[in-house]
Amino acid sequence: MKPLIVANWKCNPTTLDEAREILNGVKERMRDIEKVEVIICPPFLYLSYWVEFFTKKEQKIKLGAQDCFWAKKGAFTGEISPKQLLNFGCEYVIIGHSERRKYLGETDEMINKKIKATLKAKLVPILCIGETEKEKKTGKTFEVLKNQLKKALINSSTHQLINLIVAYEPLWAIGTGKPCHPSEAKKILLFLRKFLKKNQILYGGSVNLKNAVNYLKEAGFDGLLVGGASLNPKEFVKIVKNVNGS
Ligand code: PGA
Repeated sequence: MKPLIVANWKCNPTTLDEAREILNGVKERMRDIEKVEVIICPPFLYLSYWVEFFTKKEQKIKLGAQDCFWAKKGAFTGEISPKQLLNFGCEYVIIGHSERRKYLGETDEMINKKIKATLKAKLVPILCIGETEKEKKTGKTFEVLKNQLKKALINSSTHQLINLIVAYEPLWAIGTGKPCHPSEAKKILLFLRKFLKKNQILYGGSVNLKNAVNYLKEAGFDGLLVGGASLNPKEFVKIVKNVNGS
């Protein structure tokens, strides 16, 4: 399986022109990338502009969303369904990002519904799990991760879960410039492997050009979830190239 690098643009950029600039910047630098799978998750608004580009089979970059609702359609103001995403050429969707848990009150129960709905719709969910700084300091990391996993995956069949991707994103490392050291991240990965024998497991949290490859080579992760650094096409593609050549 190819390593996976997922760009999470979050609520950026502000204009469509800027979004085009980032996407074009990534596209034009992607020529020699053969050994890495790259997925870009822009805000929903920009998806419709890129349908044609991303649905082309030869395309090296795949499209993902940052969230989705659990129902197929109906009276759910402001929500986007898995089927709607599929119809726009999305193949992946981030579920349960810590910013949604924190600012939008997303619960484990909601995340579980979203995981089930996306798997059913044949979208690939990228489930985010991670502990807070306090939980880490009080030695609760493993317990927290196990719980988040268990609750998110309740009532999903083993058969469906083959397609699940999990991203370990320690909350204290997200957007802080204080990444989890690869040797520490490796311990977490080994713990998660006990439950996720065949799934791809990504690392996320202050990934940059300097540390990116270490999470794959040193720690053994199957890929990366990149936030801030994915908004700079030059840096992002350099990360991809380093992984491609590693
Ligand atoms: P960051 O964000 O790379 O800016 O720390 C990662 C994420 O939240 O997915």
